[in-house]
Amino acid sequence: MNTTILITGGAGFIGSNFVNWWASQHPDSRIVVLDALTYAGNLANLAGVWQSPRFRFYPGRIEDPTVVEGIFRCERITHVVNFAAESHNDRSLLDPTGLIAANVAGVSVLLRSAAAHGVERFVHVSTDEVYGHIRDGLFSETDPLQPRTFYSAGKAGGEMQVRAHFITSGLPVMVTRGSNTFGPYQFPEKIMPFFITRALDHRPLPLYGDGSQVRDWLYVEDHCEGIATVLERGVPGEAYNLGGGNELTNASLTKRILRLLDRSDDLIRNIPDPRGASHDARYALDCRKAAGLGWRPRQDFDAALATTVRWYVEHQDWWRPIVASEPFQAYVRRFYGPALGSEL
Ligand code: TYD
Repeated sequence: MNTTILITGGAGFIGSNFVNWWASQHPDSRIVVLDALTYAGNLANLAGVWQSPRFRFYPGRIEDPTVVEGIFRCERITHVVNFAAESHNDRSLLDPTGLIAANVAGVSVLLRSAAAHGVERFVHVSTDEVYGHIRDGLFSETDPLQPRTFYSAGKAGGEMQVRAHFITSGLPVMVTRGSNTFGPYQFPEKIMPFFITRALDHRPLPLYGDGSQVRDWLYVEDHCEGIATVLERGVPGEAYNLGGGNELTNASLTKRILRLLDRSDDLIRNIPDPRGASHDARYALDCRKAAGLGWRPRQDFDAALATTVRWYVEHQDWWRPIVASEPFQAYVRRFYGPALGSEL
């Protein structure tokens, strides 16, 4: 494919996995990354493409129209995938307003420039959390958006910007709604890397409440393939669910991680749920629409979990500086301090 693809949030978890995957699948494509390099963005995630003459990096925020417009003017962008977002529910509890800039306003800025410059295809990466939670059954794309958290309300706001821009300008834009994603390079505030890195150091694992909430886990490579499938074959104006089909309670996931690391369940601490009433009980997706485009998740969950755990064991040079940094420690103290106390 002779493309120049703009990947926003390309130094983050799913974004950097997508950059590396896209570079391997489309060696002729030029890749332009725009990333704000906030706490979760990490240039080390892009080491594999950094030297390529087909790769270019811009530091900046998607909500900054000067930066965004400058990129579209200079780079002849043909395709866009927007990963840029504030993506952690727990941080949004500490500051519910901060995420509006990236997750809502930034989406609008990006769409406006993309439409003005005649971009051929645009995927906005959203989340299954925009539907709210579901006790039984599966969400399909026609279900109403009923977000219940500050983060998911922001992502739903971003989707409304997509909808309005599609209707107004006809920009060929699609939305993907992925389920909980895991794999290498995930910032260690999310349950999987947080628990793996803590368990490696024999530190207690703060499991919210009784750990009965259910998440559907999708390996990051499958998620990247799903996004690429929608980018190439999705119908403009449409949304596509991308789920892994691997439903697990948080308690069961935690025990599997401990088993893989040869650690005892005694490390588990059932702490009072810091998310309170906003803690979504279960996410689950009907993915037949994406299957109709030819996508299905290919990775076996247990094998992918083992690969992920091994990656964190073997890449301590990647996560130890993050975990030891003062901003990360300050976050952990602030969020978990009241419940874990001296066990932090
Ligand atoms: P998380 O990885 O933050 O993703 P999301 O909020 O998008 O689902 O959390 C996944 C689940 O794990 C969620 O139900 C909350 C729970 N959880 C814990 O029990 N303890 C923790 O320390 C974290 C970070 C999450």
